[in-house]
Amino acid sequence: MSYDVDALRAKEFPWAARGERIYLDHAATGPLPQRARDVQAEANLNRAEMWRVGFEYFWDGVVQGREHAARLLNASPEEIAITTNTSQGVNLAARALPFKAGDVVISSAGEFPANIYPWMGLEKAKGVVLELVPMKDRLPDEDALIAALDRPRVRALTVSWVSFATGAKLDLARLGAACKARGIWFVVDAIQGLGPAAMDVKACQIDILATGAQKWLLSPWGTGFAYVRRDLIPELDPPAVGWLSMPASADFTRFLDYDYAFYPDARKFEVFTAPMHDLKAMAASLGLFLELGPAAVEAHVASLADHVVTWCNSRADVRLITPVDRARRAGLLSIAVDDLAAASERLNAARVSHSVREGGIRLSPNLYNTTAELDIALAALAPR
Ligand SMILES: Cc1ncc(COP(=O)(O)O)c(C=O)c1O
Repeated sequence: MSYDVDALRAKEFPWAARGERIYLDHAATGPLPQRARDVQAEANLNRAEMWRVGFEYFWDGVVQGREHAARLLNASPEEIAITTNTSQGVNLAARALPFKAGDVVISSAGEFPANIYPWMGLEKAKGVVLELVPMKDRLPDEDALIAALDRPRVRALTVSWVSFATGAKLDLARLGAACKARGIWFVVDAIQGLGPAAMDVKACQIDILATGAQKWLLSPWGTGFAYVRRDLIPELDPPAVGWLSMPASADFTRFLDYDYAFYPDARKFEVFTAPMHDLKAMAASLGLFLELGPAAVEAHVASLADHVVTWCNSRADVRLITPVDRARRAGLLSIAVDDLAAASERLNAARVSHSVREGGIRLSPNLYNTTAELDIALAALAPR
């Protein structure tokens, strides 16, 4: 259950194979594999001269995107809505789930704002109360989150799978089971986990999952998808109503036969027209994950993360912010050092792409990175 990383680099990430850059910033934005670049370039040409290809050529990216996303999540394509980012999926959850004034939504302190502001918006619009459970030792506190579910009028739990700042990964199966037992909706922002970690929405009993594909999934900006559990779809009213969400629009010669009746599947939540050529590229990139195998990708990224954790544990001059326990992290690693700005400068000088977030240097290796690359980055991070 592994793959040939050198061959993968040569074929899909030739700039990495040539040593032009050590790219460890997938938690910010992922570069495109060669196959996505090729698809995008071809689609751009075809877009410029539209008559050379049929509309089906572009629409195929949408269909394949739904199918590939479904396979990555262990869902069915009917449960996938194409979106343009994570926020769209989180807003879908906040506005489509049938909340009433006074209902309570639980989340964790330390969440990325994409999973906070849509719920604050719901507070203003509907009088739903967002309660943030404090972190413990600067990490999301799973026990406290579960305890908070027993507060009065709690209707939903919404969390990031993996924290953008600390890399702490939540046990979604545990949280999902706790929600299910209490009849509480479970909403997950998966963008910092999906790709480096394998997902099973059924095993985790997730009701709505939101993700952009622009980071770990190595896809263009403006691409993403949302999962909505099949049984929930008929109960939800889309917050934004798309013309292609109705079977009545399927016949392009008869648009004016209006019929306000949605598809019975997650197309109900799509709002078209979307960036079609970029969605084709997303389908190509998701195809790469499926080809390598999500479990093999997870194993590769986990071994890279282990390498960083072992290095951090061996040193007194750095502190790993990310949990040491393998089950509690994915590909995102945050490391505290004395002088963040100086460390960041050294990394830049060594041509290592990284981020500085919330008091840590954030390194986020993906499916094509190597331990040799990490060694160069770590030597730059703490040179003595
Ligand atoms: C946890 C999390 N959610 C969402 C986003 C981005 O949201 P969107 O895809 O809507 O731009 C980020 C990006 O930094 C993130 O870290």
